[in-house]
Amino acid sequence: RKLGILISGRGSNMMALAGAARADGSPYEVALVASDKPDAPGLAWAQDQGIATFALSPKGMAKADYEARIDAALRDAGVEAIALAGYMRLLTNAFVARWRSRIVNIHPSLLPKYKGLDTHARAIEAGDTHAGCSVHVVTEELDGGEVLGQAQVAILPGDTADSLADRVLTEEHKLYPRIVAEWLSK
Ligand code: GRF
Repeated sequence: RKLGILISGRGSNMMALAGAARADGSPYEVALVASDKPDAPGLAWAQDQGIATFALSPKGMAKADYEARIDAALRDAGVEAIALAGYMRLLTNAFVARWRSRIVNIHPSLLPKYKGLDTHARAIEAGDTHAGCSVHVVTEELDGGEVLGQAQVAILPGDTADSLADRVLTEEHKLYPRIVAEWLSK
């Protein structure tokens, strides 16, 4: 199956997905990496790897026009399913409907807790004993679709949002390729 990955920055989850896609027996290949930030570090990495890329800043464009261009790029690349990997822009309901049940996201919390931003700081502030990450289907509700898989880490005394984020990110890189492979094997 042909996977498209949307990023906005570092792209470490995209790199984990692309790495796993190269393994024998992977049920998916990365057909396109697209970014709303033309200078995203992850985009340069994908180019170096010989992966097809598409970059378009939405600045000065109507949102519908911007998304139509992304949609066209994904379709031109033969993309059948989309993984969001640090893509920091909300998708419109129209885009989500067009790709219904074919978009997943990774979110750095144990959903349904801490949808949105600053998840690690909020988990520490709340006195939680565990934090983690979730892979979920993307619906019109932000971080609200069906959870396909989660990984947990303990919150340690002295953890800061950054130290916790680092440990959760290590788990993200294992969880996301595994769940995407399961999802695309169905
Ligand atoms: C990750 O923590 C992911 O869970 C969140 O945004 C971050 C993206 O990091 N959605 P990267 O760009 O994949 O390195």
